[in-house]
Amino acid sequence: MKILVLGAGGRLGAALIREFRAKYEVVGFNHAQLDLSNLESVREELGATTFDVLVNAAAFTNVDACETERDRAFRINAEAPGVLAEICNEKDAKLIHFSTDYVFDGQKRAPYTEDDQANPISAYGESKLAGERNVLAAGDEHLVVRVSWVFGPDRPSFVDAMIKRAQQDEKIDAISDKFSTPTYTHDIANMLPQFFDRGVAGGVLHFANAGKCTWQEYAQWALDCCRDAGISVKPGTVGALKLSDMTNWTARRPVYSVLSTAKYTELTGNAPRAWREAVADYITRFYSKK
Ligand SMILES: NC(=O)c1ccc[n+]([C@@H]2O[C@H](COP(=O)([O-])OP(=O)(O)OC[C@H]3O[C@@H](n4cnc5c(N)ncnc54)[C@H](OP(=O)(O)O)[C@@H]3O)[C@@H](O)[C@H]2O)c1
Repeated sequence: MKILVLGAGGRLGAALIREFRAKYEVVGFNHAQLDLSNLESVREELGATTFDVLVNAAAFTNVDACETERDRAFRINAEAPGVLAEICNEKDAKLIHFSTDYVFDGQKRAPYTEDDQANPISAYGESKLAGERNVLAAGDEHLVVRVSWVFGPDRPSFVDAMIKRAQQDEKIDAISDKFSTPTYTHDIANMLPQFFDRGVAGGVLHFANAGKCTWQEYAQWALDCCRDAGISVKPGTVGALKLSDMTNWTARRPVYSVLSTAKYTELTGNAPRAWREAVADYITRFYSKK
């Protein structure tokens, strides 16, 4: 089976390529090799490439920049995925396209299921939702996987920024009134192959590690794991910030965007592991060696 991964230079795309390499024939395109905002070249390049599964982990992910560069956000996050799905149809290939918990408005206080109404409150969320719809309008055998708070070794994310700050500063804070679930790229890579077959599970699927937390709890757990692993960090506790303190953010973010993985468990018989376990695994594996 030949897998083509777009977004090869990103946090998720790079992890998928690294982890799939042992079992599959994998080819990756990074931003420089294939620009999703140039639909002509996307058609040309991918038309000339053979693959059975196309995994799209490329996106314009800067949530604030999407507000001011709406056209670009919609071209990359909405139009391009639709074109990718059409190309897959021509090749009898399956598209697995990644989307986000930011398609929800965050008003709910229980995990969002795939049947819940999406109602994005940012240009990023709007563009990603339009991308989901374009993919599934081209063919309902394609799969849209919504993930949340992605972390992993291939590109720094929130958890790495917190650890870095805690190694430099005596005091750190993080937002204490915004809830979702960290999700490890390694766990996404492990579960994804179950869906490579074109006949298996099209539509929307939520995947995240289990449980929920605020950014403050997430950062606190990261510091606790560092200490347990003998990695030196200065502050003992993480202070609380309010979402309303983030006055430099242009885009609105959902206050609550926990994704229910009940459908994933129903389809596969597996449950994702707890986010605390996944974060601890990441820190012992990738920080202990540094
Ligand atoms: N990170 C999260 O917390 C999170 C949460 C929910 C959902 N997601 C979704 O998960 C997927 C993977 O995200 P990630 O965390 O891996 O983000 P990432 O590290 O920002 O990776 C996205 C990749 O897309 C590339 N890209 C941007 N514009 C492009 C274009 N015009 N053509 C081709 N490639 C382009 C970027 O390249 P450059 O850096 O060179 O521009 C980057 O390598 C995305 O669909 C994202 O929406 C992420």
